[in-house]
Amino acid sequence: MIISAGADHGGFELKDKLAAMLREEGYEVIDNGTNSPDSVDYPDFAQAVARDILEKRADFGLLVCGSGIGISIAANRFKGIRAALVTNPDYARLSRQHNNANIIAFGGRFTSFEDAEKWLKIFLSTPFEGGRHERRIEKIDNI
Ligand code: RB5
Repeated sequence: MIISAGADHGGFELKDKLAAMLREEGYEVIDNGTNSPDSVDYPDFAQAVARDILEKRADFGLLVCGSGIGISIAANRFKGIRAALVTNPDYARLSRQHNNANIIAFGGRFTSFEDAEKWLKIFLSTPFEGGRHERRIEKIDNI
């Protein structure tokens, strides 16, 4: 499974730690940066990850900015992207079961590595339930 990762200066440390963890677990990771604390603009990294998914270079995306808010808003501008800002284990599970989320987003300034690791593993191992949720996702795509 291929994960596309991206972050701004507020999220790169958590993104880098999660990317290393994913590689140790056997995932392939496309690292779209950023890789330093120099100030950058989160929409650029949201776009890179969204395009990796929509153009089928990656199966899922991981995005981190300071709060997780801006980078998930930016990713969700792309039709077919369902980016979920996850702040607890239930959101990680439900974003997959009900929303078929294809990007998980974290707030790097508010999320510990230990929590993010657990929530990311839940996200990646939880299947979409389909059924009535499929209809709702189609309605999102038709807005
Ligand atoms: C950057 O300072 C910060 O605004 C950004 O990382 C993010 O929190 C935006 O939503």
